[in-house]
Amino acid sequence: MALTQELISEFDELKTHYPESQAALIPALHRCQEDLGGWLSPDIIEAVAAYFGMEPVEVFSVASFYPMFFLKPVGKHIVSICRNISCDLRGSDELVARACELTGAKPGQNSADGKIYLETVECQGGCANAPMMVVDGTYHEDLVADDVNKILGGLA
Ligand code: FES
Repeated sequence: MALTQELISEFDELKTHYPESQAALIPALHRCQEDLGGWLSPDIIEAVAAYFGMEPVEVFSVASFYPMFFLKPVGKHIVSICRNISCDLRGSDELVARACELTGAKPGQNSADGKIYLETVECQGGCANAPMMVVDGTYHEDLVADDVNKILGGLA
């Protein structure tokens, strides 16, 4: 089974917070993604389904619906550049172009060295300071293209 005993214990506890155990599925998938290599492999999907008494396709349908879950291996660093209207009107296309140039990746791909996964996403809730991008959960706002060099250049 792809789940560790530690994760199973966490899921057991998580389920106590919800009226129905399957309501803990999304936080459980987050924990799997964090602890088991950064993405949700078919083995993990099957193991989570078995744990929750669901069919693998049901877990897959949840995991594939939300963009924060990855169904293929991704780099150590997740770079998410917003392409929604506020960011778009304020130049997010230049941020995307610079990030592509620096990483050698197109949105939805890993960098050539495999360290960075680049994606374009819908509004990330930072419109007042557009354009912006999120790197490993940290917001970077009011950006110009040169800021992308500094931020991505600082990633180990
Ligand atoms: S449109 Fe980019 S954060 Fe909202």
